[in-house]
Amino acid sequence: MRTQVGIIGAGPAGLLLSHLLHLRGISSVVLEKRSREYVERRVRAGVLEQGTVDTLVEAGVGERMSREGLPHHGIELRYGGAGHRIPFEKLVPGRAITVYGQQEVVKDLIAARLAAGGDVRFEVEDVAVHSLESEPYVTFGGERLDCDVIAGCDGFHGVSRPSVPEGVLSVFEREYPFAWLGILARVAPSSEELIYARTERGFALHSMRSPTVSRFYLQVPADARLEDWPDERIWAELKERLETVPGFELATGEITERGITPMRAFVTEPMQYGHLYLAGDAAHIVPPTGAKGLNLAVADVRVLTEALAAYFRDGSAELLDGYSEACLKRVWRAQHFSWWMTTLLHTFEEDDPYARRLQLSYLDYVTSSEAAATTLAENYVGLP
Ligand code: FAD
Ligand code: DHB
Repeated sequence: MRTQVGIIGAGPAGLLLSHLLHLRGISSVVLEKRSREYVERRVRAGVLEQGTVDTLVEAGVGERMSREGLPHHGIELRYGGAGHRIPFEKLVPGRAITVYGQQEVVKDLIAARLAAGGDVRFEVEDVAVHSLESEPYVTFGGERLDCDVIAGCDGFHGVSRPSVPEGVLSVFEREYPFAWLGILARVAPSSEELIYARTERGFALHSMRSPTVSRFYLQVPADARLEDWPDERIWAELKERLETVPGFELATGEITERGITPMRAFVTEPMQYGHLYLAGDAAHIVPPTGAKGLNLAVADVRVLTEALAAYFRDGSAELLDGYSEACLKRVWRAQHFSWWMTTLLHTFEEDDPYARRLQLSYLDYVTSSEAAATTLAENYVGLP
């Protein structure tokens, strides 16, 4: 079997790449180890930058997102007994974010690929990439797929990145001493906008998916286990951390999904080797506080699509050669922003009273200085 681009992984990166390549007349095969049901149900990100929304709309897969996505023009930072709004419409006019679940993006992309006769294979076993320096190919479940190029879109735990010979890639990483416990609940959001709450008990985030479904996250210890967090404890802790301003009451409901995500940062440089190009979480991870992971994956795929289009159109490898460099600038900006938001809002056990005062002082600065708030806003809605 032969295709132009062999794509490993049917997350947002792999599916969008396959779709954008199809629009340019470039063939691809997507190989995913999980089932279609599994990837369509995997609850993760929810915040789409304007650039991500524009990409999906331009690619013709934004119809349901435009109908069901929730545009947001600000977020609230809540700490010290008060809420402080960061108004995007004032600080970054014309730019906003859209709240729309990652698994909805994945569903829309899978539907588009299948409607166009795309080759997306689920539950494939033993995917391995070979001969990355020349004439690359992929093996899976006893089959062989020859391709011109392999796109490693298989996330942080995938097989693509570990296939690069040792010593080629430099890795930069940081593990945070806490995790996020995330839930989805059948209850109307208690706030119109996202609330990022900093308390002495730890961070909490109130997000949403629709007028009847809310999404919440709690900072928990890195070794926290779901079995130690029954529903009552989750709601009690969310109330402790969110009901900190006068008159705010958190509505509760049935919890329909729960999970614990470790917090880590990771970058590999370069994001390519031979005919293998890494995109999305396969190449970099950010702590979720800045809501950047999915948006970075989309940004990588935009760059890779242009580079592959030039390569297959007139054989020019110039853009492909510069792929990694073109992506890493944005990647590192997002790394810094995610680290900054994480540091601003979480409690660190090693922090002494002095460090806590510094954190509160910085929060006061961000919420009172227009220049500082603009820094937050322009990074949050996404750099052009
Ligand atoms: P993935 O979505 O991980 O997709 C990789 C795919 O490859 C998967 O389907 C996997 O099954 C498959 N795969 C893995 N190994 C193999 C193999 N060996 N063979 C075949 N297939 C394989 N980002 C944001 O932008 N905004 C947010 O608000 C946000 N919130 C988040 C909240 C949480 C709780 C989490 C966990 C993440 C969040 N993120 C957020 C990050 C975002 O979800 C990821 O950055 C995004 O999923 C990256 O997409 P991807 O396609 O690169 O990787
Ligand atoms: C969501 C996730 C995030 O990481 C974030 O910063 C904001 C919202 C969400 O899943 O809704």
